[in-house]
Amino acid sequence: MENILQVKNLVKSFKDGDHLKKVLNEINLDIPKGQFLSIIGESGAGKSTLLYQMSLLDVPTSGNISIFGKSTDGMNIKEQAKFRLNNFGYIFQDSSLIKELNVLENVKLTLLAKGISNKKAEEMSKETLSKVGIGDLINRYPSEISGGEQQRVAISRAIVGKPSIVFADEPTANLDHVTSEKVMVELKKISEELKITIIMITHELKYAQKADRIIEISDGNILSDSVIKK
Ligand SMILES: Nc1ncnc2c1ncn2[C@@H]1O[C@H](COP(=O)(O)OP(=O)(O)OP(=O)(O)O)[C@@H](O)[C@H]1O
Ligand SMILES: [Mg+2]
Repeated sequence: MENILQVKNLVKSFKDGDHLKKVLNEINLDIPKGQFLSIIGESGAGKSTLLYQMSLLDVPTSGNISIFGKSTDGMNIKEQAKFRLNNFGYIFQDSSLIKELNVLENVKLTLLAKGISNKKAEEMSKETLSKVGIGDLINRYPSEISGGEQQRVAISRAIVGKPSIVFADEPTANLDHVTSEKVMVELKKISEELKITIIMITHELKYAQKADRIIEISDGNILSDSVIKK
């Protein structure tokens, strides 16, 4: 299968006092189009750092990230921002919704930023919100809905623009068991029905196992890489 994302010899170091600390140590990873990949590993292992490099939210110290077979090396900040807007969706641990905007407006925003008309953006947002089961909450504000509902708004926002890849950093970390299950069902649906590539960090092995493949990061290295048998 064609790779949608390729990581080659990726190194990321951070300044730690007067020396450099290597947080990612020559990571190599090929992610096929449409794959649901989960990333597990201990706290501080480098999972989020890896996700930030792959999703072009940060710049590697060395090595290379290719997306759709094309190196992202030469991209300037403006090109990267445009690329992220057009190709990526993000879901973080806290839903990071804008509290002054209602649910519909929060989801619509990405589409308006892409230059889609208000009418069309509203239509697409409503459709997506209904698909994830919260079509009746469009006029509520983030403070007026539950954590799980907020996270489903965040999922809607991440997928409404039909991205090629959704990056999720512990999307269920702040949720109880029942709500986490619901969020995982939505992510699985996105993977299966919309064929969006999903790269998800999780602490919970049972959620990691809902993916097609699990990689374990330890101390900046890939410790194991396994395909889940269904
Ligand atoms: N901007 C930064 N500056 C300096 N050090 C950083 C920075 N970001 C991350 N680190 C360090 O890099 C290491 C890996 O961090 P990272 O956030 O990738 O871990 P993680 O695997 O996502 O952990 P967690 O499960 O706790 O979220 C940690 O030791 C962290 O302190
Ligand atoms: Mg993290």
